[in-house]
Amino acid sequence: MTTRIVAIDGPAASGKSSVARELARQIGFDYVNSGAMYRAVTWHVLQRGINPADSNAVVRLLEESRIDCDLVQGDSRISIDGVDPAEHLRDDRVNEEVSRISSIPRVREILVTEMRGYAKDRDIVMEGRDIGSVVFPETPYKFYIDASPEVRLRRRIAQGHRDQIAARDRVDSSRRASPLIIAEDALVIDSSNLTIEGVVGEIIGRLKMKGMIIS
Ligand code: DC
Repeated sequence: MTTRIVAIDGPAASGKSSVARELARQIGFDYVNSGAMYRAVTWHVLQRGINPADSNAVVRLLEESRIDCDLVQGDSRISIDGVDPAEHLRDDRVNEEVSRISSIPRVREILVTEMRGYAKDRDIVMEGRDIGSVVFPETPYKFYIDASPEVRLRRRIAQGHRDQIAARDRVDSSRRASPLIIAEDALVIDSSNLTIEGVVGEIIGRLKMKGMIIS
């Protein structure tokens, strides 16, 4: 089955989650948040008392764990060893360690396989850091959402999070395995002065221009 994949990448607090979710709703695709998958794994590692700096131990734990990726009303969910850590994905300690855990190549391999599984039999909008560059490089529908550092910091504070986004961006952009980059054929949208609706409108316009039939 040929499915359609819209890839939305961008740095922390660029607005990509709100945009991706709303876009998926408007075009009737399922929504997959790949950052939540890295966050869930990070939570699992911390919960099991594994040192996030010990990448061998992290990989060993993950290879012994059962990862289930699912959709609940069009929204991606991940549970590990039967536990869905949805409420903990934005905990301070997860924010602090998620970039380190997601820089481990084997962790990425395991999760990328799960991500590709989502697109086997359904149309999806997937957001993350390397969706257009690594996970689905062949999709013609790629977007990179950016915003100025000031706007991104303001958005995080407004969400009530004390997340060190600048530090996380530095690690995410400089790591060796699948760093945050702008895919060559992605359309870059600066959302600093745009509403969610405005960004979604721009994306839908581009998808139609590329010949996507949206019902
Ligand atoms: O989108 P987010 O801020 O919730 O993502 C949390 C972290 O997960 C991010 O700092 C880096 C990692 N991540 C990644 O490495 N690759 C992705 N495709 C998505 C997220």
